[in-house]
Amino acid sequence: MSDNLPLKGIKIIDFTHVQAGPACTQLLAWFGADVIKVERPGSGDVTRSQLRDIPGADALYFTMLNSNKRSLTLDTKKAEGKAVLEKLIKESDVMVENFGPGALDRMGFTWEHIQKLNPGMILASVKGFSDGHHYEDLKVYENVAQCAGGAASTTGYWKGENSGPTISSAALGDSNTGMHLAIGILTAYIGKQKTGKGQKVAVSMQDSVLNLCRVKMRDQLRLDKVGYLEEYPQYPHEMEAFKDGVVPRGANAGGGGQPGWILKCKGWETDPNAYIYFTVQGHAWEPICDALGKPEWKTDPAYTTAQARQPHIMNIFATIEDFIKDKTKFEAVDIFRKFDIPCAPVLSMKELLHDKSLRASGSIVEVPHKVRGSYFTVGSPIKFSGMKPEVTASPLLGEHTDAVLAELGYSAQEIAAMHEVKAV
Ligand SMILES: CC(C)(COP(=O)(O)OP(=O)(O)OC[C@H]1O[C@@H](n2cnc3c(N)ncnc32)[C@H](O)[C@@H]1OP(=O)(O)O)[C@@H](O)C(=O)NCCC(=O)NCCS
Repeated sequence: MSDNLPLKGIKIIDFTHVQAGPACTQLLAWFGADVIKVERPGSGDVTRSQLRDIPGADALYFTMLNSNKRSLTLDTKKAEGKAVLEKLIKESDVMVENFGPGALDRMGFTWEHIQKLNPGMILASVKGFSDGHHYEDLKVYENVAQCAGGAASTTGYWKGENSGPTISSAALGDSNTGMHLAIGILTAYIGKQKTGKGQKVAVSMQDSVLNLCRVKMRDQLRLDKVGYLEEYPQYPHEMEAFKDGVVPRGANAGGGGQPGWILKCKGWETDPNAYIYFTVQGHAWEPICDALGKPEWKTDPAYTTAQARQPHIMNIFATIEDFIKDKTKFEAVDIFRKFDIPCAPVLSMKELLHDKSLRASGSIVEVPHKVRGSYFTVGSPIKFSGMKPEVTASPLLGEHTDAVLAELGYSAQEIAAMHEVKAV
């Protein structure tokens, strides 16, 4: 473990569960913060037992979101538990929570009370919707947020049997919100170094999804002005798709100024991931013609500009598909990379898990674990030149309860008494 991790010395009460909150605090733990996960005695975070692959062991759902943390069991509805939490608040820098709306207040830990206990405290919260929103009372999970934040209405096919709003498998609502919260916490922490004061940092899942759908909001604003979206696959053959004035789903179209599509490669009939993504960069048209062996397209007015290509862009993709039909996705990318074309194979989870480069960079890591033996997880996607955070095991339920209580000044007898009444 690097001993120069910048967040060393920052103490975080991790009062989070499921994914959105734990993803945030795991990131901060990787970078050196002392993250104390506070969990309900007996059961802990619900993900410990959800989707188990080994009977009796913490599920991967939990281990992959809670590495590098310590676990303190605490019943914060009991007087003894509340007293411990109060003590912990006085000695910590940050408290992160993602309970349902009002749960923390009902427990007696209002923002006012927390500030009284520790004016420097940063309280970081994830909720489905922002404070004062007309849906602020709703409990929210991943897919609910994807629907409320605009991702579902703009993802998927616009026609055909399965053309309804579609959920992404990327955790846009959960982990993405956690990443936003981590930025908020670090910002508030730097602010506190200047002012000495803590503050409340709130991130809603709806806002976090919407923030990632920024380009779709751009498209709505353009649609309102222009009446159509020239880079969408519906243009210009299916102009009725723009008639209702709402951004249509664009399937696999490129989201920016460069048209792109998912193309079949050799073996697609039996391999669900034998595809590549191919992007047509406007300024890189000539290399594309060279790669495909179509030099005549370089001077043909039907191909020389992006505007001229757009009406028959799907035919261009069909031509590229024909060119790669006898090539695997890896062979196709190896050809196109020589021409500087932005492209990549569609990689399955299995391929990613065994990818040598991801293993070498620490993006996929194997972590020793007391009960499981070891588990694979996704390591830090952020790399630093001056340090290499090491991923260590997620804690067992209550593994550090006695140690944390002792650090807070409780005697062995006091700790035993807390166990006796099941407050910890
Ligand atoms: C995720 C979510 C839907 C789960 O809902 P839930 O399982 O019903 O859990 P809640 O967070 O609403 O409630 C937790 C309850 O457990 C209690 N609790 C939690 N930890 C406790 C502890 N250590 N000791 C005692 N009680 C505890 C809370 O006080 C609350 O009780 P209350 O409802 O009586 O006030 C909800 O937490 C939520 O909407 N969170 C905000 C958005 C979010 O982060 N969603 C994404 C999750 S990945």
